[in-house]
Amino acid sequence: MSAQFSGYFISFEGIDGAGKSTHIESFGKLMQERYPDCDVVMTREPGGTQLGEQLRALLLDAPMNLETEALLMFAARREHIAQVIEPALQAGKIVISDRFTDASFAYQGGGRGLSLEKLNDLERWVQGRENGSLLQPNLTFLFDLPGAIAEARRSKARAPDKFEKMDLSFFEKVRQEYLRRAKTDPKRFHLVDATQTPDVIWSELQSLVIKL
Ligand code: TYD
Repeated sequence: MSAQFSGYFISFEGIDGAGKSTHIESFGKLMQERYPDCDVVMTREPGGTQLGEQLRALLLDAPMNLETEALLMFAARREHIAQVIEPALQAGKIVISDRFTDASFAYQGGGRGLSLEKLNDLERWVQGRENGSLLQPNLTFLFDLPGAIAEARRSKARAPDKFEKMDLSFFEKVRQEYLRRAKTDPKRFHLVDATQTPDVIWSELQSLVIKL
């Protein structure tokens, strides 16, 4: 990443219980230290705006039709892009988001079975730019681990939301879709072996900050 780069977008992804939340805050602080002249914006999906946070509360709690769920995820994302992500990138800031569109492909697509065709259409609609390109993160950390290990970790954490209550086969399908996405765009994805200890993962993330 050069000194005068124009914005940089990083997303963190993985199945629930993979451990991304343990590292994202510290990673943001480290980026801010490494690039002191650049604001680091920490955000999340679903959410990141007032409307998006209201949609998040519904999405994580209320049972709903699969198409409705996907549309609300992308509606929250549209608002997030318009209000937060694009303005920050245009101002040359670093944006770090806890999840982005890969999560919709993984959860609504892989996990719940929404067709790739519909997801591709929504992605094009919501992330399409005037010049015809698609807004995508420059870098995506995918915290990858088997569903059974993630399930054991989740059982020790706080009360589960709607998605966290899903069974092992759901999370295996979510994981496989994440891995499929990673294969189609290996330049953007950095796979983190999330079975490793938090210390080892943190060293890996630190070494990557230096190379950006
Ligand atoms: P998560 O990011 O894990 O936050 P927390 O650390 O507070 O649990 O929770 C968000 C949940 O929303 C997670 O289970 C994945 C799900 N989700 C989707 O199903 N589709 C999406 O497009 C996004 C962004 C998230």
